[in-house]
Amino acid sequence: MTDVTRSGTSWPAGFTVRPTVDPGSGQVEVSDTVSGRRFRWQPEALAERILTDGTDARAGGGTWARAQGGADREHLLPGWRHWLHRGWHPSDQSYVASRRWAYADTDDPGDHIRRRTVQTYLDTDGLPPQEELPDAPVVPLGSPATPGDQPVGALLASRRSGRAYVPRPVPLPSLSGLLWHGLSGVRERREATGEAEPLSYLDSFGSAWDYYVCVYSVEGLEPGAYRYDVSRHELRLVSQGDHRAVMTDVLQGMRSPATAAWTIGLVADFPRYQWRYRHEHALRRLWFEAGLIGQEVIVLGSSYGLSTLVTPAQKDRPYLRLHSLDDRRYACLYTLTMGLSRGRTGMNFNGTAIEQTDIGA
Ligand SMILES: Cc1cc2nc3c(=O)[nH]c(=O)nc-3n(C[C@H](O)[C@H](O)[C@H](O)COP(=O)(O)O)c2cc1C
Repeated sequence: MTDVTRSGTSWPAGFTVRPTVDPGSGQVEVSDTVSGRRFRWQPEALAERILTDGTDARAGGGTWARAQGGADREHLLPGWRHWLHRGWHPSDQSYVASRRWAYADTDDPGDHIRRRTVQTYLDTDGLPPQEELPDAPVVPLGSPATPGDQPVGALLASRRSGRAYVPRPVPLPSLSGLLWHGLSGVRERREATGEAEPLSYLDSFGSAWDYYVCVYSVEGLEPGAYRYDVSRHELRLVSQGDHRAVMTDVLQGMRSPATAAWTIGLVADFPRYQWRYRHEHALRRLWFEAGLIGQEVIVLGSSYGLSTLVTPAQKDRPYLRLHSLDDRRYACLYTLTMGLSRGRTGMNFNGTAIEQTDIGA
């Protein structure tokens, strides 16, 4: 292999060249991870340009030229090398892009920009879409059980995924406590949101979510698919029946529902979120939120003696069908299948302790 080197030109950090998505175009794409800009080139023309003077007028002109000096991205290099070293580099472009925090209200001490922005949203689009509750029988949850008194650190250290559970019904107060305490932060924010303070519409955390509970085995509760009303802390029965088989299919064949007490679904209502979070990070933020809320519920669950199979791998349409949801508006992004824990080792689908076998996610 011939080693071709030229002196005087260095490739700017963060620029990549790759084939375009369209395999028939014959072009290549030059992209700058840092600025997020992309340009298409005929390969011959690009090669000529690089060999001529290393400066690409079309690829951001000054951007490339400045980048070649490296001065404006020198500070990124250690982080980049860290990612390469760890083998994470296929994700480096998304990572750098996720650090572009160009918000209109970055510097807005008197809230003037924020207020004006919300007013524009209200003038053009009206109020944010409201949470829609199904017209279905209301089922009270009763008093929430007090969570166990283990320190959070101990719960975090001892928590393990459980994919099979003690096949006994879970007491209703445990489900009530899990939903009441686990979603208290979301509930408080939701209650503080309203027309009286338009800025509250921008407090987006938790605003997108509806929570569904597919109950298999809870003392005093009919098996069926329920919607949880966060504000009133009560359930609405959407579809009565034993849905274990359907949910096992929804979960790509994972058999946890066979012995679980319920599957909680975090369902995003996209229009509700899009009204508030008009930024390219929006979908990414939703995934973060699913993880944050999920983790709180899982850890709290372990204080009630429950273990969890967590996954975002559910099939969209069958899940939505089971809960009578419209796939143009909603998507279930995360499910938590929970049941009475079989111990701190966690359990596989077939009930063997996790330490004894090797299981992939
Ligand atoms: C985002 C996410 C997706 C997961 N998906 C699955 C899954 O589809 N099936 C499964 O059995 N476990 C799944 N898990 C559980 C992981 O396999 C488990 O958390 C990991 O093996 C570490 O074990 P631990 O939870 O006992 O600490 C998932 C976990 C996370 C955080």
